[in-house]
Amino acid sequence: MKKQQQEQLILKPEAQIHIIFGATGDLMQRKLISAYYRMMKEHMMPKNFALIGFSRRPLTDKEYKKLLHDALQQYSRNMKIDERVWQRLSSRIYYHPGNFNEAAGFRTLRRFLAKLEKRHHTKGNKVFYFATLSKNFNKIIKQLLANKVITRKGNEKDYFERLIFEKPFGHDLHSARLINQKVEAAFDEHDIFRIDHYLAKETVQNLMVLRFANALFEPLWNHKYIDNVQIIADEVLGVGSRGGYYDNAGALEDMFQNHLMQLLMFTAMEPPADLKPTSIANEKIKVLQSIKDMSTQQARLNSVKAQYTKGFANGKMRKGYTEVNGVDPDSITETFIAARLEISNWRWAGVPFYLRSGKRLAKKTTKIIVYFKEAPRILFYEKQVGIHPNVLEIRLQPDEGISLHFNIKKPGKEMHVVDANMDFCHECLFSPNTAEAYQVLIHDAMVGDKTLFTTWREIEGSWRITDQISHAWRKVKRLPKYRAGTHGPKLAEELMERDGRHWYI
Ligand code: BG6
Repeated sequence: MKKQQQEQLILKPEAQIHIIFGATGDLMQRKLISAYYRMMKEHMMPKNFALIGFSRRPLTDKEYKKLLHDALQQYSRNMKIDERVWQRLSSRIYYHPGNFNEAAGFRTLRRFLAKLEKRHHTKGNKVFYFATLSKNFNKIIKQLLANKVITRKGNEKDYFERLIFEKPFGHDLHSARLINQKVEAAFDEHDIFRIDHYLAKETVQNLMVLRFANALFEPLWNHKYIDNVQIIADEVLGVGSRGGYYDNAGALEDMFQNHLMQLLMFTAMEPPADLKPTSIANEKIKVLQSIKDMSTQQARLNSVKAQYTKGFANGKMRKGYTEVNGVDPDSITETFIAARLEISNWRWAGVPFYLRSGKRLAKKTTKIIVYFKEAPRILFYEKQVGIHPNVLEIRLQPDEGISLHFNIKKPGKEMHVVDANMDFCHECLFSPNTAEAYQVLIHDAMVGDKTLFTTWREIEGSWRITDQISHAWRKVKRLPKYRAGTHGPKLAEELMERDGRHWYI
């Protein structure tokens, strides 16, 4: 397709300025700057655009641009930076130092914005990106309103002001509600964008097509045919430079409450009435509502938390979690979480959902495993010839795709059965260069499309379950450990073995 044709297919955002809070943080360096760069490269940006990084560090524009350029080089997946594209982007980047607690930085931000609006002809349109800890959300909103950087809802305006909030939204149900009350009181819902970047992953969007556009799977997608579902997000990376943030969050808040629960909702939901975001969200919320409440005792029995110690991972000897910069040496924050949940509705009664995520594990893999029930134990079973239950493996990363495992006869006189595989490889069918999740989401926020953002009710419902697990572990003084580079703690295996099952490796 010619470049011009391609550009026409992408909805071009209107003129706008982005203000990033947490502009020197890990997210900006690892994900956001490469998303902006790729949008610029792929002609998805409006001509009239500017970006202001707002953070505590006293940097000049030049120093900030260098920091971003270095980050782009370090974290962009095998991408050679096109310096002409970078120049186009960097000529629109500015830095503004400020403290979230102090009015001064916000007062000067207002004046700076007015100046840049004239320079870049951005017509007053703004996107405020809260790429910072959720404990800062209310402080920033207060300053934005008090210093008239943003307009409170109900006031007439002929420009837009949108807000993007990073996950985790709050650190439990109570704190999330406090933030949401403030946000909803001050701004219109259509201007509020709550991020979970997993929603923009191709395979997550593909889940609905797989389930509801194929006659093959949906009739089997229930407790009559499915034995268990496993949702796995193993990471090889440790906590890197995010020790300070992570030690206050842990795997439950960082991955489970949002990414894993989103995957669970898409896997378990009923078909929506149509593809409108609200119809889809309604079905997802019903899943959350049907997850069985757990008493403290049940939640403890059905979950495992653990922390990694020193070990050989990803080709190198790695420090233990408590030795990482920014982490309390006596920390009892979990770097691994596994849990067994039950959904009590007609479709899923009796089917356990096992969720698991951890840092510094043996390999990076994010996948959903649908384990079908065994075929009736007749005919071939008598001979003990190695029959396995069918498994549908939905891989999000690193090798995006879907595999269906089934039994076939091995050639020869003997009746031997072996495992065969029908495989869909995303990269083989499409190009390896599909857009990254953050690129999709920032572009959607720029054009005002909320389809791939989470709703407050999903966040709320998900905290309800997550809180039950954190409550069950609150009195624990020492966490179980696992060595970096392994498959996680033995207790996670035991959680499965108790049910006569095992994790799908
Ligand atoms: C982020 C978490 O939301 O997701 C990180 O804060 C985690 O700790 C990351 O590494 C994983 O994202 P992905 O897209 O690599 O699976």
